Amino acid sequence: MSINNIGLIGCGAMGSALARGMIGRGVVDPNEVYLYDLNEERKKTLASEVKANAASSLDDFIPLCKHVFIAVKPQDTEGLLYAVKPLVQPDQVFVSVAAGITINYIESCLFPGTKVIRLMPNTPCLIGEGAIVISTGESVTDDERKEVERLLKPLGLSIRLPENLMDAATGLSGTGPAYVYLFIETMIDAGVSVGIRRDVATKLVIQNVIGAAKMLDSNAQHPAELRNIVTSPAGTTSSALLILEEAGFRSCLIKAVREATKRSEELRLG
Ligand SMILES: NC(=O)c1ccc[n+]([C@@H]2O[C@H](COP(=O)([O-])OP(=O)(O)OC[C@H]3O[C@@H](n4cnc5c(N)ncnc54)[C@H](OP(=O)(O)O)[C@@H]3O)[C@@H](O)[C@H]2O)c1
Repeated sequence: MSINNIGLIGCGAMGSALARGMIGRGVVDPNEVYLYDLNEERKKTLASEVKANAASSLDDFIPLCKHVFIAVKPQDTEGLLYAVKPLVQPDQVFVSVAAGITINYIESCLFPGTKVIRLMPNTPCLIGEGAIVISTGESVTDDERKEVERLLKPLGLSIRLPENLMDAATGLSGTGPAYVYLFIETMIDAGVSVGIRRDVATKLVIQNVIGAAKMLDSNAQHPAELRNIVTSPAGTTSSALLILEEAGFRSCLIKAVREATKRSEELRLG
């Protein structure tokens, strides 16, 4: 097994983001990356784009790889793991992005003691601005975990959490972009309703979100402090905030995240 080879199973949205991020930012050598997907065309298109190897079967590359990333849908994961099982080598690290599939479950489909890392990414990983929650199985060493964090760096921010918070991470962060998009879409409609052209409203709202997020990211102030700066006595912002509070804006968002977390718990395997 080469010390650096990487196998990636599943060349869909998340698998492509992983391959493009790791190869595009020069974290790995494309010659050392093997891509595999049941969908031949998807695999070949991605392999040709990132100049990696398109593997024709699991046997072709699994035994050669130090890291094997699994990026197929949760319902396809169990069958895949059983197909991978006879090919597992000692010291390989399996990295799964499948929502709801626990480390314990993956170990039980492979071998007890297999090195497993579980990720909860989100779609902004596609442009290197993702948030990735990472949990490690008991057999994974600190150095092995750090190596995977290094590989993931081009995809965005990685945060380590114990696996018992993975459903919460799914409800908050894996699902998070959808809440933000709904907010943005609604703000654009609001701009249109007060007379601003849709294209202009779109630009203004996106820049509002980027600017507000960057202010939060660049200084240590609490969101409420930054909100207070915008809120002058008897001004427009305080009128708007009153409406949002009366409509239960905060409790609505909290309930949405709790509901997504609960749904993730219901879908959990293992
Ligand atoms: N997209 C997100 O926002 C997001 C966020 C967090 C986590 N995830 C996780 O990421 C994983 C992948 O999601 P995705 O959105 O990238 O899915 P996707 O776009 O459907 O890609 C999965 C790919 O894997 C292929 N595949 C299925 N079974 C396979 C097998 N046994 N061997 C090789 N390839 C196989 C599929 O082929 P077919 O289409 O022919 O079946 C498809 O090309 C999921 O487990 C999901 O929970 C996704």
